[in-house]
Amino acid sequence: MPDINIHIHNYTIQQLFMPQKSILFVCLGNICRSPMAEGVFNQLILREGTYRDFKIDSAGLIAYHQGELADSRMRGHAARRGYNLTHRSRPVTVADFDKFDLIIGMDDQNIRGLKHVARTPEQAAKIRLMTDYCTKMQATEVPDPYYGGDRGFEYVIDLLEDACGGLLKAIAPPLP
Ligand code: 4NP
Repeated sequence: MPDINIHIHNYTIQQLFMPQKSILFVCLGNICRSPMAEGVFNQLILREGTYRDFKIDSAGLIAYHQGELADSRMRGHAARRGYNLTHRSRPVTVADFDKFDLIIGMDDQNIRGLKHVARTPEQAAKIRLMTDYCTKMQATEVPDPYYGGDRGFEYVIDLLEDACGGLLKAIAPPLP
């Protein structure tokens, strides 16, 4: 098959005319699960070479850790799997519901919190649950690892690697 991808200034026609997809990952503190989700998704699209098609960020339902890097335990476990987490915690805002196409919470408490922040039915319709994108693992939440041990952090990364892969396939299926 000949390669019929036409490039203009290094961008494919598809990249020029397809609007960016924007995803906000949300957890409670924005120092463990959602920055990890952001890191996993970013690495997937970097490896694929499709990172220009996406705007990815994360936020928390509480502002308690605002400005902080991810928890050092989360960063440690992430680094051992090749993820460098540089995000600094910030609280989710109503404006995020207009800036992002999808707002993805990690557990049911996050989903309830996000529904509380949303102001319109259109905004609320953007809310999703992360584990709904899992394709290999069976889970109904990405559990908060903050008060647990090493295994909790490893399990969070396992779940997020599965869910981020499923999410990418769901929103940007590979071309035939
Ligand atoms: P995260 O974990 O929601 O995955 O970032 C938490 C971190 C800190 C707190 C809660 C959850 N906290 O209450 O301080």
